[in-house]
Amino acid sequence: MVKVTAPPADGLAPPPGGSASPQLGDDHPRSSRVLSGITPSGSLTLGNYLGALRRFADGQPTHEGFFFVADLHAMTTAHDPKRLRDLSTETAALFFAAGLDPQYSTIFVQSQVTAHVELSYLLECTAHVGELGRMIQFKEKGRKPKTRASLFTYPCLMAADILLYDTDTVPVGGDQDQHVELCRDLAIRFNRSYGDTFVVPRLDRAALASRVADLADPTVKMSKSADSRAAGVIRMLDAPAAVTRKISRAVTDSESAVRYDPERKPGVSNLLDIIAVITGERPEVVAAGLSSYGELKRVCAAAVVETLTPIQRRYADLVAAPQELTALLSAGAERARAQAEPVLVRAKQAMGLAS
Ligand code: AMP
Ligand code: TRP
Repeated sequence: MVKVTAPPADGLAPPPGGSASPQLGDDHPRSSRVLSGITPSGSLTLGNYLGALRRFADGQPTHEGFFFVADLHAMTTAHDPKRLRDLSTETAALFFAAGLDPQYSTIFVQSQVTAHVELSYLLECTAHVGELGRMIQFKEKGRKPKTRASLFTYPCLMAADILLYDTDTVPVGGDQDQHVELCRDLAIRFNRSYGDTFVVPRLDRAALASRVADLADPTVKMSKSADSRAAGVIRMLDAPAAVTRKISRAVTDSESAVRYDPERKPGVSNLLDIIAVITGERPEVVAAGLSSYGELKRVCAAAVVETLTPIQRRYADLVAAPQELTALLSAGAERARAQAEPVLVRAKQAMGLAS
């Protein structure tokens, strides 16, 4: 059985001078493991790319990555099977097109690794109704008689996703913090009740870029679940003309000075942030080089088009050869299974099940 050390006291801060997460015993040295999933509930946006996928791709040489399409999570509310199938394929192809590389990372579709559902049930047997009922997403969408039971138990599935891979860090956006905290609580409780079984993961906010806001309403995040015609949402697969049109219509303000001030000038600052993330400059420096809102929008559109075009080209190649994409995903699922299976067996044995 693996030795699991105590989690950092505040749940986030790395221990002084050491690795940021609990480690397996000294005889099991390995690089830090990162895991994240994206639910195929809409066509991926520029926010998904700049805030998540690009970061994941950049971290590949130094971290052992597990990245998956969380298709089971897309079934917690009413769903259309064909749309789910299409979006899962599209999302997976975009993972590869965005630079996730099987040479470094394990890339797979969640439902192809059955251990996720199995461990999820075991964790449901440790989670409390009270703590699941406190999850904000459930409080917002749930509590109606016809709410799917899976919306209530969904954090157990997410915890299983994470714990199955002895994950050290989980880079996710703000709305998922609570679920990662619950995952930590469940892992700690399990280890106390049944013996050291799981690595206790930590949240990694720093691994994500600041949020990209909706161009039409810069007070909310650019979301893949928005209506497909939403004017303020740039999709990774939007044609250059659509990208340029959406950015040219982005909400700004009644001033004319290009200044970085997220509080008072959220629309302008969002465009500056986008350029800054793409170019690696600070947004204040970007602002200093621009003299009008028209110029800001032209520069932003050019940067986004230049970023998305090569990804779209790779995406087109991948979907033109669907059997290759299927093979990549089968190989990813096989690697994921090989990692997940021993952890599942560990958990089953610890709980007293025949395995
Ligand atoms: P979601 O689309 O909310 O399921 O999020 C999937 C991943 O993309 C998470 O890691 C989020 O942090 C990231 N993400 C989603 N939308 C944005 C956004 N507008 N800006 C930055 N990151 C985002
Ligand atoms: N629930 C996450 C979201 O909606 C996606 C997700 C599922 C996930 N399982 C995960 C993220 C495990 C990180 C780790 O964005």
